[in-house]
Amino acid sequence: MQEIPAYKTDIKGEEKVISVNLLDLARMLSESVDLMEDGVYHHGQRVAYIALQIFEELYPAKDAFNLVLASFLHDIGIDSEEKKKEVRNFIVDQQILSKHTLDGERLLGQVDLLKEIKAIVKHHHTLYEDIDKMEEEIVPIEAQIINLADRVDALIDPSCHILGQKNIIINKIKKYSGTMFNPEIVDCFIELGEKEAFWLDIDNQYVHNKLWQQRFSRKIIAYEKDIRQFAALCGDIVDRKSPFTKSHSKRVASIAKKLGQALDMSEEDIFLLEIAGELHDIGKLSIPSSILHKEDKLTGEEKSIIKQHTYHTYYLIDRLNTMYTVRDWAALHHEKLDGSGYPFHLKANQLDLGSRVMAVADIATALSEDRPYRSRLSKKKILDILWDLVKDNKIDGDVVNTLEANFDYIMFDFN
Ligand SMILES: [Fe+2]
Ligand SMILES: [Fe+2]
Ligand SMILES: [Fe+2]
Repeated sequence: MQEIPAYKTDIKGEEKVISVNLLDLARMLSESVDLMEDGVYHHGQRVAYIALQIFEELYPAKDAFNLVLASFLHDIGIDSEEKKKEVRNFIVDQQILSKHTLDGERLLGQVDLLKEIKAIVKHHHTLYEDIDKMEEEIVPIEAQIINLADRVDALIDPSCHILGQKNIIINKIKKYSGTMFNPEIVDCFIELGEKEAFWLDIDNQYVHNKLWQQRFSRKIIAYEKDIRQFAALCGDIVDRKSPFTKSHSKRVASIAKKLGQALDMSEEDIFLLEIAGELHDIGKLSIPSSILHKEDKLTGEEKSIIKQHTYHTYYLIDRLNTMYTVRDWAALHHEKLDGSGYPFHLKANQLDLGSRVMAVADIATALSEDRPYRSRLSKKKILDILWDLVKDNKIDGDVVNTLEANFDYIMFDFN
């Protein structure tokens, strides 16, 4: 197998706080977007798998890294489960599709390492018959392959056995050869589709994981700037889901960072707090908008569904296998010192300073934001609520004290 050079090995001159696999990070983002909607898990990875089989057949000598990266991230522009359902129909109006392809392109533009795949994501629904009409724009072959792979996955009915559907799917794709899809890619897909293993592999996550590890495991990112840009992208994707939280992750990151500074934490820990702040609600994509946007009181069941978000935050970050401190600080923000928090019911001795800072940063941020059921609260009201929580042994008094002493700087000097 062809050896792929390390993405970045030279990290001299830059402080290396975390190093993380770029593809793992992209997969984490893809999995978080996959949490939206009715259990259609791993769409990004399935598309990556189908696309990679085709790409390697057509271009055995070319590096497939960008194709896989773009497959993982192709739908990050989707911001609600309604839109996600819409694009699972086989034929969708191009106008509707262009919203998420353009949003995806824009979101990727804020991360230097992802700029190369912007055009692929932008064109992953561009029709083959429209390519010639495009002036001065190149539709990368990767985009054309993802287009087909994405439609194949949309055609798969998860309630039926995959082998029973293969001929129907092949015939449907064939019908649109030359109009929707590049005929060369369709022919390659038809040939691959004759093998049962091709279809069984689509459903088999073990095959995917082994594949990604073998091929792309050496692409590591370690620069603070890159990690920060990636984390900010994660925060934006979560925040876009609700108009009430449009800058929530960013504000939690900023407030946690300033609290860390005021508490004299180390430079490294302050950086990790900032990253954890951007990621703390990444599991929120698993919560239906109907609950997030509800104006009336939540029912008991809805409240318990909300509680799954930090569980997902924990395991999404855990799979990166390197960012354990970030994982804990991000995912434990609803735990309480007396053990009454969620989802793990940890107690004071299991909650370190970083976790306590995140808990206070999250509550203070939430209280200073408008919600569907109330407007933002005043400084006095926010501090009253926080001190009540300290009295009840829920959150850390030293952290609240530090917040009170630097309130205006920490809360309102937001950048
Ligand atoms: Fe899409
Ligand atoms: Fe898709
Ligand atoms: Fe939360």
